[in-house]
Amino acid sequence: ILLMGQRSGRQERSKKPQLALSETMEAETEVRNNKEEAEEVKAKNQRLASVFGVADLKNEAVGLYNLGQTCCLNSLLQVFLMNIHFTGILRRITVPQSAAQQKNSVPYQMLLLLEKMQRGKRKAVGPTELAYCLAQHRVRFFVQHDAAQLFLTLWNLLKKQMKRPELVEELKNLYTICIQEHLACQNCSFEMKSKSTMLTLPLPVLDADSHWLKSLEDCVQHFFLPEELTGPNMCFCQKCGRKTPFLQSMKLVHLPQTLTLHLQRFNFERSSRTYKLSHYLSFPQHLDFREVLPENQCQADASEKATWQYELFAVVAHSGSTSCGHYCAYVRSLTEHKWYCFNDSMVCPVSWDDVKCTYGHPRLNWYANGSLFLPNAALDFGMRAVRSGKTNGFG
Ligand SMILES: *[C@@H]1O[C@H](CO)[C@@H](O)[C@H](O)[C@H]1NC(C)=O
Ligand SMILES: *[C@@H]1O[C@H](CO)[C@@H](O)[C@H](O)[C@H]1NC(C)=O
Repeated sequence: ILLMGQRSGRQERSKKPQLALSETMEAETEVRNNKEEAEEVKAKNQRLASVFGVADLKNEAVGLYNLGQTCCLNSLLQVFLMNIHFTGILRRITVPQSAAQQKNSVPYQMLLLLEKMQRGKRKAVGPTELAYCLAQHRVRFFVQHDAAQLFLTLWNLLKKQMKRPELVEELKNLYTICIQEHLACQNCSFEMKSKSTMLTLPLPVLDADSHWLKSLEDCVQHFFLPEELTGPNMCFCQKCGRKTPFLQSMKLVHLPQTLTLHLQRFNFERSSRTYKLSHYLSFPQHLDFREVLPENQCQADASEKATWQYELFAVVAHSGSTSCGHYCAYVRSLTEHKWYCFNDSMVCPVSWDDVKCTYGHPRLNWYANGSLFLPNAALDFGMRAVRSGKTNGFG
């Protein structure tokens, strides 16, 4: 499960009519001479710049056709593209110059897809060109994906290809979490502190005794609990000159506007096989980190903490087993304040009660989960995760 929250209490942008961006954004295949192309690009950039700040159309929720096991990608795309803070950044990208570069640019292809979705009265569109583009970047299709892993992959590609430093900065600000890790030797006074940024908080769903945690709040608290590193987990202490027991703790430094939480429902510790932990786990519509985390697990001033209030914006949910399953996205439109269920090409309005039922519903056999484990999934993405037994999903 991926739960995305939006900071509450923020002003929505004004709802001006959408400018006619569509025709200009069609991907060209014709070969043009360079000069013409450069002119065109310049004009496009100007038009792109002119739509900055304009809120998306009163978002008609549009589905995405499944191109063969692309339900995970489709769900994540819906979550990205329904986020007006994200699309506000996406609309300002610099259009790549050549047709080949355009084909290979994830942000540009995402923008084209957004345009395609918003343009017409179609019930659903196919993310074909974007999927082709992602395949060029070694994103595999026709396989089950781990939503958190694919989310990280997409985000890294976006960040890498957005080029304009100020947009990359905005993208980082929109999504990255900042944490301070603290390691203290239990024998001497030696301690190490380091800051890490993360795209998601990878939350455990089991406690240290392998008991099921019951709510999202419990999972957050558990994630931040100090942990003693003893036995095989001992660390080398420079002062003692050998491995000693350490106390590892984490403090929350900064939370972004769009906060992504990942419930780690896969478990691959006790056997070589990955299995899914599908137990009931409640999540709230409003989450205030100041109420969830004790003072000593925060490293932030009052003004930072004042922003730690979230409203649930999206849930990416998986049904089925680790080897076979299906993803859907539940997203609350930030312009209409209504929930939708995006089930590939099918989109339907749903209630908060339906969203809450994304887990543990026995009759539908529908469990919230985003944790299909993809063996050997690329671990070389540019995120630094907190080094801890708690961050199994990312290395
Ligand atoms: C514990 O730390 C002290 C210094 O504070 C050092 O003399 C001693 O060797 C350390 N003990 C071990 C077992 O490393
Ligand atoms: C999604 O669609 C499939 C059929 O394509 C259906 O079996 C499934 O129940 C739907 N899931 C939800 C949550 O509506």
